[in-house]
Amino acid sequence: MGRGDYVFSDKINHASIVDGCLMSGAEFRRYRHNDMAHLEGLLKNAPADVAKLVIADSVFSMDGDIIDLPKMVELCKKYNAWLMIDEAHSLGVLGEKGTGIEEYYNLYGEIDIKMGTLSKTIPSVGGYVAAKEEIISYLRHASRAYIFSAALPPGQAAAANEAFKVILDEPWRIERLNENTKQFISGLKGMGFNTLLTETAIVPVICGDDDTAFAMTREVQHQDVFVLPVVSPAVEAGLARLRATVTAAHEPSDIEHAMDAIEKAGKKLGLIK
Ligand SMILES: Cc1ncc(COP(=O)(O)O)c(C=O)c1O
Repeated sequence: MGRGDYVFSDKINHASIVDGCLMSGAEFRRYRHNDMAHLEGLLKNAPADVAKLVIADSVFSMDGDIIDLPKMVELCKKYNAWLMIDEAHSLGVLGEKGTGIEEYYNLYGEIDIKMGTLSKTIPSVGGYVAAKEEIISYLRHASRAYIFSAALPPGQAAAANEAFKVILDEPWRIERLNENTKQFISGLKGMGFNTLLTETAIVPVICGDDDTAFAMTREVQHQDVFVLPVVSPAVEAGLARLRATVTAAHEPSDIEHAMDAIEKAGKKLGLIK
């Protein structure tokens, strides 16, 4: 996108998306988080004859909730906008085969540009963009971030390639991840914690102010559970949290242990009764 074009971005999209939008020089419009009526209002108000792009994380990196892809696809078609989705947290997580947001909604081929990192479920570095050949060819010749940075080291590319195969060859990992995620989220909710609308492996445990989030982190880490705090401005002030992540490598007993630790800390700090 460039000057004169319009980009519509979810309010809590990852910082790298925000920076990309700003660097593009396009008109930048933010819609309220997952608020499709607000997105439609902004699309409606944009000039009809400009290039438009709607962009969002498929799974939000700090909240763990999932986009309303069917509605986004519908709006993009209605207002002639391209759709770009960042699959950093859905690849290897969503869908029975773990292939991501399109599989989750059974909406294959409806996203114009999919990008993802190679730093989450794919344990490497770098990232990818997947789109029609013309778009990829355009990016190869026009994307400054691509042209002016070094290529992936071959070892990292090979590791990433193998990890994609593991996702496809070992679907039990996705099943296990889903079981662990359900156990963890429902357990925390049952204790009275606010985990926002997460349905995925990213589980926010809302603490309130930043100091409480730091204190919770210390308490939980002292019980041998690795969690990290996320505080403002990375998230809205007052919604500081622990950001816990479940993996397929966890055993049910690990999840129990983590929940006990968080429960004890939450009681001590008065977050739950
Ligand atoms: C949604 C999203 N997009 C992009 C990135 C950037 O990933 P990387 O650090 O691999 O460049 C992240 C990681 O933090 C992310 O959560």
